[in-house]
Amino acid sequence: MNIPNWICLYGNKLNSVKKVIRDLEVIENKPVGGNNFILLLKSTENLPPMRPGQFCQVKVDKAPEVYLRRPFSIHSVDYKAKTLTLLIKAIGKGTTVLSGITQGERLNIVYPLGNGFSLTMEPNVLLVGGGCGVAPLLFLAQTLKEMGIIPTILVGGKTTEDIPRLEAYRKIAETHVATEDGSLGEKGLVTQHTVFKTRLAEFKRVYTCGPEAMMKAVAQAAEALEIPCEVSLENTMACGIGACLCCVTETKEGHKCVCTDGPVFDSRNLNGWNIDKASACSLPYIKTE
Ligand SMILES: Cc1cc2nc3c(=O)[nH]c(=O)nc-3n(C[C@H](O)[C@H](O)[C@H](O)COP(=O)(O)OP(=O)(O)OC[C@H]3O[C@@H](n4cnc5c(N)ncnc54)[C@H](O)[C@@H]3O)c2cc1C
Ligand code: FES
Repeated sequence: MNIPNWICLYGNKLNSVKKVIRDLEVIENKPVGGNNFILLLKSTENLPPMRPGQFCQVKVDKAPEVYLRRPFSIHSVDYKAKTLTLLIKAIGKGTTVLSGITQGERLNIVYPLGNGFSLTMEPNVLLVGGGCGVAPLLFLAQTLKEMGIIPTILVGGKTTEDIPRLEAYRKIAETHVATEDGSLGEKGLVTQHTVFKTRLAEFKRVYTCGPEAMMKAVAQAAEALEIPCEVSLENTMACGIGACLCCVTETKEGHKCVCTDGPVFDSRNLNGWNIDKASACSLPYIKTE
């Protein structure tokens, strides 16, 4: 098993790695459908070690009214080329301005922030993404693959356009798709997909990122089968470094900042995310025998 150097060096304490503020050059801004676009950014210096699930805070210079940095997951990293990519969906002022950024411009980013996914040596893991929540899962899938673990990937959205970068996921691993309108893959929600309904018990760990309702459904199904599930929260953030407390979430250990203690949490530690044991057996994906 090939364990990336940074795991040997930092283990699970990667959030203790020094954060940097850098101007990165935009090498490419590529639309990938459904208001999603990919920014390929290059650093003149070596990239700091990053864990899948960590994020960066991007300054939106061209829109003075967007005075707070915007958080985005690290989508992929190439340490040799000193490049990283972000997968962004234009949904408001800041992301719309970023969608118009062109090659050669510079973006000021603070990174790497937060605590990423914990990496497992278990061979059978399932990655479940919804919409542009798939963003951190590419870096996770790439890293797991480097470690010799080929994950199973399941992605979902309302329609085909909500499933960006499918080809990139398919290059790494078996990738299944569910769309609510049935325009791609199986019709329905990710939790209604055949893989989820019939094979969930095979997996030793589940990682998920996407809309909160989707993540809760995924986490509860995993919990019912006693499979650890890590969820990546996208609470609205301001500072991104634990100073303003605007991103807190309730956990079994009290309030935690999503930007520094997360964004990735074990779903069993989050208040309001657990299954009601009494009704668990009525969930369609739980075997009752
Ligand atoms: C840790 C983390 C990682 C993220 N990773 C990605 C990513 O990889 N790709 C990506 O496209 N987006 C990601 N997001 C969400 C992204 O930060 C927001 O979409 C972005 O900040 C919106 O900025 P805006 O100025 O365009 O929208 P605004 O004009 O500020 O808001 C437009 C609308 O979006 C809503 N909104 C704002 N922030 C969020 C949020 N965090 N979650 C849900 N709705 C929000 C607002 O309530 C409003 O309705 C991430 C968020 C977090 C916290
Ligand atoms: S965003 Fe300020 S504390 Fe998390």
